[in-house]
Amino acid sequence: MNLAHILVLVGYLVAGVLFILALRGLSTQETARRGNLYGIIGMLIAIGTTLSVTSDLTHPLIAVAILGGAAIGAFMALRVGMTQMPELVAMLHSFVGVAAVLVGYSLQFAHISAKPELIEVFIDVVIGSITTTGSILAFMKLSGRVSGRPLLLPARHFANLAMLTAIVVFGVLYASDHETWALAGATGVACVLGVHLVAAIGGADMPVVVSMLNSYSGWTAAAAGFMLKNDALIITGALVGSSGAILSYIMCRAMNRSIWNVIFGGFGAAPPKSATKGPAQPAGDVQEITAPDLATTLLGSKNVIIIPGYGMAVARAQHAVRELTEVLRGKGVNVRFAIHPVAGRLPGHMNVLLAEANVPYDIVLEMDEINHDFPTTDVAIVIGANDIVNPAAEDDPTSPIAGMPVLQVWKAKLVIVNKRSRGAGYAGIDNPLFYKPNTKMLFGDAKDAIEKVVAALKA
Ligand code: TAP
Repeated sequence: MNLAHILVLVGYLVAGVLFILALRGLSTQETARRGNLYGIIGMLIAIGTTLSVTSDLTHPLIAVAILGGAAIGAFMALRVGMTQMPELVAMLHSFVGVAAVLVGYSLQFAHISAKPELIEVFIDVVIGSITTTGSILAFMKLSGRVSGRPLLLPARHFANLAMLTAIVVFGVLYASDHETWALAGATGVACVLGVHLVAAIGGADMPVVVSMLNSYSGWTAAAAGFMLKNDALIITGALVGSSGAILSYIMCRAMNRSIWNVIFGGFGAAPPKSATKGPAQPAGDVQEITAPDLATTLLGSKNVIIIPGYGMAVARAQHAVRELTEVLRGKGVNVRFAIHPVAGRLPGHMNVLLAEANVPYDIVLEMDEINHDFPTTDVAIVIGANDIVNPAAEDDPTSPIAGMPVLQVWKAKLVIVNKRSRGAGYAGIDNPLFYKPNTKMLFGDAKDAIEKVVAALKA
C-alpha cells in the first residue's frame, strides 16, 4: 500500500466520520447548523479525495459537472418553499437512482467479468431502477401532477411477486452468462415495479414513502460503492440507507401505521384513512372566545402550552406565535410548545417553523416529554392543529385514527382551538375536542387571530 493510497483511505475515513457527526448534529435543533456544516465539509473532502484518484483531474467535463450541479443545487435551495420539500427530496432520490444505473451499465460495458462483480452490478442496477421510477412517480404525486389516490389493482401483490421472481430469473441468467439483455430485462421489470409500488400508496402515506425511497437511494449508493470499490460511497450509502429506514419506522409509529402496510401499499388493510371517508360533518355545539377575552384569560394564567399544527404553517403564523410567547413570558407566564411527531406535513415541520421564528429551543418539547403536563396546565392553545389533538384516537376504537398517539390537550383546565371553521383535518374526521365543556374556539386565520390576541395583550 503506497502513501497515495493511504491518504485516500484517510480522506474517506475523515469524510465518513464527518457524515456521522452531521447526522448526530441534525438530531437536535441546537446543533443542526453545526451538523449541516460537518456534512458540507465531509462532502467536500469526499469529492476532493475521489478527484485525486482519477487520472483525468483536469477533465473539462468534471468542472462542468461540479459547477453546473452546484449552480442548479443553489438555485433550487433558494427557490423551493418549505411545503415543497418532500417533492424536491423525491426528485433528488431519482437522481441517485439514475446515477447508480448508469454506473452499473458503464461497468457492464467496460471490464467486469468476475461473478461477485456481476452480482454487485445487478443488485445496484435493480435497486437503482426501482428508486428512479418510484421517486419520479412520488415527485409527480406530491406536486399534484398526478392524482395522489392509491392505485389498488386487484392482483397487485401477485403482480409484485411475479415481478420479483422475474428479476431473480434475470439475475441468475445474467450472473451465469454476463449478457446485457438479461441486465436490461431486469432493469425494465424493476422500473415497472418501482412505479407499481408507489402507485399503490395513498397521499397519507406518501411522506413515509419518500423516507423509504431515501433509504433505498442510500442502499443503491452503497451498492455502487461496492462496484466502484469506493469506501466513501459505501459508508455514506449505509448511513443514508439506515437513517432513512429508521425515520420511516418512527413516522409509521407516530401515525399508527405498519411499515409493511406502507411499503406494500395497504397490504391486508383498509385503504388509507383519508380515502375512506369524505370530510366529516361537524357534530355538536361549540363555545367561542374572542381575542380580547383570551388575552384577559392568558394574563391570569401561570402555565400555557401552545400546540402548533398544519394551519400555523399555512397561515405562516409562526412569527405572530413567537411574539405571543415573548409577550406572555414577559408577563411571567410559563409558555411551552408541544410538538407532535407528525404535526404539519413533514417530519420536523413545526420545529423548523419555530426555529425560523427564533422561538427558544428549550421551551419546544416533544410529545413524550410534555404530554403528562396537560393536567397541570391552565391554558392549552391549539393553533391550526386538528388530528394530533383528537381524543377519538384514544376513546373511539372505530375511529380511523384509533391508536395514534395524540397530545392530550383536553386534560388542561382550558383548551383554546384556533382554526378557521369546524372543518376536519388531514384524516377527514370530526374532532370531539371542539365540543368539550373546557374547549373554546377562536375562529379565524391563525396569523390574524394570534396577532389580535397579541395586540389585546399589549393594549
Ligand atoms: P390537520 O389535522 O391537517 O389539521 C389542520 C387544521 O388546520 C385544519 O383542520 C384546518 O381547519 C386548520 N387550518 C388550515 N388553514 C388554517 C389557517 N390559515 N389558520 C388556522 N387554521 C387553519 O393538521 P395536524 O393537526 O398538524 O395533523 C397533521 C396530520 O397530517 C395528521 O393526520 C398526520 O397523520 C398527517 N400527515 C402528517 C405528515 C407529517 S410527516 N407531519 C405527513 C403526512 C400526513 P380549518 O380548515 O377549519 O381552518
